[in-house]
Amino acid sequence: MTPRSFLLTPELGDYVRAASEPPDDVAADLLAETAALADRGEASPTFQIAPEQGAFMQLLTRALGARRAVEIGTFTGYSALCVARGLPADGWLLCLDVSEEWTAVARRYWARAGLADRIELRLGDAHDSLRALPAEPTFDLAFVDADKEGYADYVEQLHPRMTGNGVVLLDNTLASGHVFAPETDAQRAIAELNVALATDPRWETVLLPLADGLTMLRRR
Ligand SMILES: C[S@@+](CC[C@H](N)C(=O)[O-])C[C@H]1O[C@@H](n2cnc3c(N)ncnc32)[C@H](O)[C@@H]1O
Repeated sequence: MTPRSFLLTPELGDYVRAASEPPDDVAADLLAETAALADRGEASPTFQIAPEQGAFMQLLTRALGARRAVEIGTFTGYSALCVARGLPADGWLLCLDVSEEWTAVARRYWARAGLADRIELRLGDAHDSLRALPAEPTFDLAFVDADKEGYADYVEQLHPRMTGNGVVLLDNTLASGHVFAPETDAQRAIAELNVALATDPRWETVLLPLADGLTMLRRR
């Protein structure tokens, strides 16, 4: 079972998926291998982005003409595969994650898709990896999908590192609907960040009801 939006009935979910570009063989195999990991209890079934979100991110990357992108939270590499496919042949996607085990799966699929040369993986705490990058406009696209309590820090760190029309995407900003009455630290962090971003004069902000909520930010 691949990830599904809690916002849609199963029928509407299938409809949205069928009306969006389908995953090719490599992406479908990666979805299946990751679903098997979740079935065996070796990973969370909610980690991976939904295929329709992958199609959106690939299209957006291409439409923005993005050349340099960063992903915070790579897991088995599906969202990175989608972003990398939207980049030009000489593009660069920097992937930040702590897990050697999960990203080993990612590396296999990036190689199979012929994308390994445009993806660089840095293992370690993404807060440290991001801070270590020059605080100057570098990225045309950023995708944040790691520790939810860390999102506010990631957004701060990304601000000086985004190019003029660069776009930041924050995943899971509807927190499966728990934004109204958060029960966990992660849900509370998301709910507080949503309120803060809506009135932050430094960012243009929209929360798209795609999958589990995808917030789009552009530096003013
Ligand atoms: C939700 S999964 C990412 C899913 C991925 N974007 C996809 O669509 O397949 C979250 C990932 O963030 C990583 N992560 C969590 N906290 C982190 C941190 N502080 N630094 C780096 N990676 C982190 C985890 O190892 C995990 O692989």
